[in-house]
Amino acid sequence: MLQFLVLPLLLSFSSALLPYPQSYEYADSFLTLSNDLSINAPENTLDTINAAVQAIHASAHRRLSIGLGSEDVDSITDATPSITALNVNIDSDISIQDIFNQPIDKRDESYYLDIPYSEDDITATINSANILGLHRALSTFQQLFYKHPSEDIHYLNNAPITINDSPEFGWRSVMLDTSRNYYKKESLLNLISTMSFVKLSVFHWHITDQHSWPLVTDVHPELYEKGSYPGMLYTQQDIEDVVEHGRSVGVDVVIELDLPGHTQSVAESHPDLISCIDRRPWSNYAAEPPAGQLNLQNDDVLPLVQSVLDDLLPRAPSKYFGTGGDELNPACYDMTLDELAPLVRSFQSSLSDKLDEFNKTAVVWHELSTEYEMPLEDGTLVINWSTADFTSQILASQPSTVSIIHAASDYMYLDCGTGGWLGNAPDGTSWCDPFKSWQKIYSFDAYANMAEEDKGRVAGGETTLWSEQADSANFESLIWPRAAAGAEVFWTHPDPQVRTDNADDALYRMHDIRYRLVDRDVRAAALQPLWCAVRPGKCNV
Ligand SMILES: *[C@@H]1O[C@H](CO)[C@@H](O)[C@H](O)[C@H]1NC(C)=O
Ligand SMILES: *[C@@H]1O[C@H](CO)[C@@H](O)[C@H](O)[C@H]1NC(C)=O
Repeated sequence: MLQFLVLPLLLSFSSALLPYPQSYEYADSFLTLSNDLSINAPENTLDTINAAVQAIHASAHRRLSIGLGSEDVDSITDATPSITALNVNIDSDISIQDIFNQPIDKRDESYYLDIPYSEDDITATINSANILGLHRALSTFQQLFYKHPSEDIHYLNNAPITINDSPEFGWRSVMLDTSRNYYKKESLLNLISTMSFVKLSVFHWHITDQHSWPLVTDVHPELYEKGSYPGMLYTQQDIEDVVEHGRSVGVDVVIELDLPGHTQSVAESHPDLISCIDRRPWSNYAAEPPAGQLNLQNDDVLPLVQSVLDDLLPRAPSKYFGTGGDELNPACYDMTLDELAPLVRSFQSSLSDKLDEFNKTAVVWHELSTEYEMPLEDGTLVINWSTADFTSQILASQPSTVSIIHAASDYMYLDCGTGGWLGNAPDGTSWCDPFKSWQKIYSFDAYANMAEEDKGRVAGGETTLWSEQADSANFESLIWPRAAAGAEVFWTHPDPQVRTDNADDALYRMHDIRYRLVDRDVRAAALQPLWCAVRPGKCNV
């Protein structure tokens, strides 16, 4: 694998795929993409393939060279061979939903892409295990092309190309909190499309939290009627649209209801079910204002939660469902952790039973294991958000089928470093300063501090955007292109040494993807002056 990763250095940055494929062979011949590409593929994949081909033709993205591709003009003539056909072979016709019903480590995303070179018309080939692999192949295919500086021509400069590719980890996600601030449905759809473009596999939708309850359910409508910001809702149709869009681009939508903490928004409709509502000083009872957690000693709490899950779970088709479990504060109940633990375990066990009824597997935050010693069910995914200096024993007490999702807050938290948000603190900083640069995310080691026998228990990882200071207006530049660095961490290789050995190449590819996203109307943040982007290696320490 290493030999392929270092290859681009030798070929002067002529290839800009992100995430970098497991096996990628290429050379230095130019090919154009015919405006009249003939596609030979299974009927039910033609819309997907046509959309990808049209996106290439619509792109104005130019190669990041000093002349923005003008160096290439002399190599693109009437005599330059053209890709005139694309053959697509898919081994299995399993539906995307049937794939999303599988455990994360069983989902086959592998594909093969071949673009030969000859002086005649060229036929490109994609082989994939299933429809999911086709989505990954088409992301790669799109990223190969550049727009000619002046003509209506799209070309690549590194034929012949052979790629054999599959991810290291199945769970490659962005988590978005849609409770603290609201996101329009269109924002979520765009996010999912962009995730697909960098081969992210799961949209982790943290739909409710302490500030608002935007989730529309048929049962207990008072929850959203009183708990949402006025009119800022996710209706049944919205959720269906988001899930369906994910299916259409190969991204599984995993919904999370964060329980039993982070539920102050329930107090708007059921003050009797919430403990320590907005109690002050808030810092004694919660990580941020307002305090409030489900009262685990009130017998009406569990039936309410169960009926909401009965309503929601059939509409959340992923194999996985998030039940939360983070940052529960015992002081909110005037209890010690030891007093609270049995209540938490019993509550979580009831949630697990409910998930079992729907054949779903839980995704939980790590405290359930580290603080409450909850025996988790087989297959549970535990999100580890602790910092690197916290050596937790998340896995030790759990069955060997329980796996980790990395979301280390000192690497993966996209909200860090944006300043304090409490109103009366002019010198305030974010709780997790500093800002996590793409380089920091990229330096993450998926196997750090892990015993050899635990390495098989990494399901993958995610970057997370908590939304105290983000909403539809500014979230894209917080997520992109940094989440693309996370996409490569969990697609390409778990070891940062292998990745950072090749840091200039990664930077060049991060620039390339950033400009590609801007070309697709995503407000991705600039990483460096353009001067640096077109002169790899010139802007290092
Ligand atoms: C759960 O899976 C079992 C066995 O695979 C199946 O019989 C049952 O219908 C499934 N239930 C639901 C709600 O999907
Ligand atoms: C949780 O993440 C932290 C930070 O990456 C790490 O130090 C710790 O070992 C992780 N725990 C497990 C069980 O992966």
